[in-house]
Amino acid sequence: MSVKGYENEIYALQTRHTSYIIRVGEDRIPENVYWGKRIDRIEDFAGEASPAPVNMQAPHCLREECASFGGMRFKESSMKVCFADGVRDFRVGRVYAETEENRLELVLEDECYPFRVRLCYEVFEEEDVIKKWRIVENTGEAPVVLERIFSAQFGLPGTGYESLNYNGRWGMEFQAVSEKITSGKKVYESFHGLTAHGNNPVFIVHKGLEEPFRENQGEVWFGSLEYSGNFKTIVEAVDAGFLNIVIGINDTDFAWTLKGGESFEAPAVYAGYTDGGLEDMSHRMHRFCRRHLMPSGLADKPLPVLYNSWYSTTFDVKCEEQIALVEKAARLGVELFVVDDGWFVGREHDRAGLGDWYVDRKKFPQGLKPLTEAVRGLGMRFGLWIEPEMVNPESRLYRLHPDWIYRYQTREVLMGRNQYILDMSRQEVREYLAECLDTLLSENDISYIKWDMNRYASEMAGGGLPAQEWKSLWHRHSLGVQWLINTLREKHPKVEFEACAAGGGRVDYGAMRRFDEYWPSDNTDPLDRLFIQENYSHLYPVRYMRAWLTDDFGMDGRKIPLSFAMHSAMCGSLGIGTDLNRTSEEKREEIKGYVETYKHIRNTVQLGELYRLRSLKNSDIQCVQYVGDGQSAVFVFLDHERYGDPLQRITLRGLKEESLYRFVLDDREIVKSGAYLMQAGIGLRLCGDYDSRLLILEEINA
Ligand code: GLA
Repeated sequence: MSVKGYENEIYALQTRHTSYIIRVGEDRIPENVYWGKRIDRIEDFAGEASPAPVNMQAPHCLREECASFGGMRFKESSMKVCFADGVRDFRVGRVYAETEENRLELVLEDECYPFRVRLCYEVFEEEDVIKKWRIVENTGEAPVVLERIFSAQFGLPGTGYESLNYNGRWGMEFQAVSEKITSGKKVYESFHGLTAHGNNPVFIVHKGLEEPFRENQGEVWFGSLEYSGNFKTIVEAVDAGFLNIVIGINDTDFAWTLKGGESFEAPAVYAGYTDGGLEDMSHRMHRFCRRHLMPSGLADKPLPVLYNSWYSTTFDVKCEEQIALVEKAARLGVELFVVDDGWFVGREHDRAGLGDWYVDRKKFPQGLKPLTEAVRGLGMRFGLWIEPEMVNPESRLYRLHPDWIYRYQTREVLMGRNQYILDMSRQEVREYLAECLDTLLSENDISYIKWDMNRYASEMAGGGLPAQEWKSLWHRHSLGVQWLINTLREKHPKVEFEACAAGGGRVDYGAMRRFDEYWPSDNTDPLDRLFIQENYSHLYPVRYMRAWLTDDFGMDGRKIPLSFAMHSAMCGSLGIGTDLNRTSEEKREEIKGYVETYKHIRNTVQLGELYRLRSLKNSDIQCVQYVGDGQSAVFVFLDHERYGDPLQRITLRGLKEESLYRFVLDDREIVKSGAYLMQAGIGLRLCGDYDSRLLILEEINA
């Protein structure tokens, strides 16, 4: 039993190492009274009155599970409802609990309106994760407008917390920033129509982990929202002396009318506590994602090495040229060959074609068959790029259905990357896309799809809805996208789907539920990528992170040696994007060698446990270690040598103390015990600019 109740007052969510305790006192307000290391004797929490600071009113000073706007509370709430008569608060008249083995529901009923909130909890005991979500039900006849319906609220006692989230933009995703929340509040959000490249729909709260760098120590409270759309996370230092955290669908430009008898389910948040620092947080969440979130077909299998044509041929796709790439890719050991943008009708550039998901007969006179046969013939699988939610004005689809986009009738429609957003809230739009893409997947030998989304949303109006309902369109759009991907996955369960949104604009647990992998950034610069990959890995598993070698490191124009670039890409799920038709045979041979090595360690990298040993953010080197069954892979990167000091000492983690490990360092075979490697460490010489090493440790007699 991981959910326990005591005297209708105390409810405990018990995981292997943690306890989350809720108390429902005489005031009928569910309050979080403890979240931390496991405490077994839950009756100890009973009978204690909430200490209200002098001159402060409850419920403002309670760490409420669901503070609803209104009443005597002035902190951030996680719900705001407006009843038909204009009353804008919710007051609990009755509360009762329903418990099961690993589930709890606290049902709160309003004292006079026919309206209730179900606070839902599920415990994942082994993974030390709790799931929180909520359902609101209008059990009467008059409509109720939800103006804010977040998924969860958390409260941590005391002050002095830091909040870590990410900042960024296209090509610069996952820049981690940790700030002390001393007064006021910090808001992380997106109203871009999807998660976007800046903040991420998560919270990570700790008490000062960044300086000095202490990856594996310290208390951390964290949570991640299963939603791909507008989100908001607020972390607030409440004057009553605690930290208030709310997270859910963004309430900016949001309103949802619940007609009589209707209900609304807010997406789930997966949350946890550890005293083992960011490292343990990552281990728990990576494990949890693999076991409970990722589409099950591929969650436990390593991803294939892929080739993607984008950086070589961009829109200039020609069948013969692609076949030449196929042959060269196969010789490198590539297992999945992907044609990116540019394969469909009219797609000569980014101003035309989106919406018309038909093979361009000018580029492929006999359809895709000659290409897919060449791919299969060489033992690889074939994949394509699509961007289903979009349409270019220059397309057959837009000419036929100019009303299928979001628009204000009185204004010129805004464009991003020369494209409009299709109104995914409409059934006929979703059905057109489902049919068109189903035909594409059924008629061709396609086993992978890269699903892109290259502009942010604006002017959410339409949907065949009256104007007063338009604020619901952001969420309806997200539900529409979910429907489309679910429908395609059901019809084509063997197809592997990758999420991309101009790089890392759709990295979230909502997308993880439906996609097998992410493209975390269009920035393939091997040095920039180290930072992006490090921070990405806080809550997202390596198995889920594509990383490619490309020719042109794009953003920064740096010249970086192949070894460093390959090592950087081998830290994730490896892909190759170099223009093989213009790469020398010698270099191709070299790449082939790295691909072979990668295949030898990929189970460890993609499915093993990750240790971020050192970071260039606060050290001279970056060092990432992966520990799998009987093997560990350690990547070490030096961007530039400092003060003529090439010697670095690295202590490893996660090995077995008594085991012996064999590895080769600078052409010498070395055998050391796990205890030695974890306590005394290994000395390495890295010199000059962009030096790197990969050490593969094999456990002897594992
Ligand atoms: C986006 C993606 C890229 C590539 C291009 C194609 O920018 O992030 O990887 O697929 O679109 O147009």
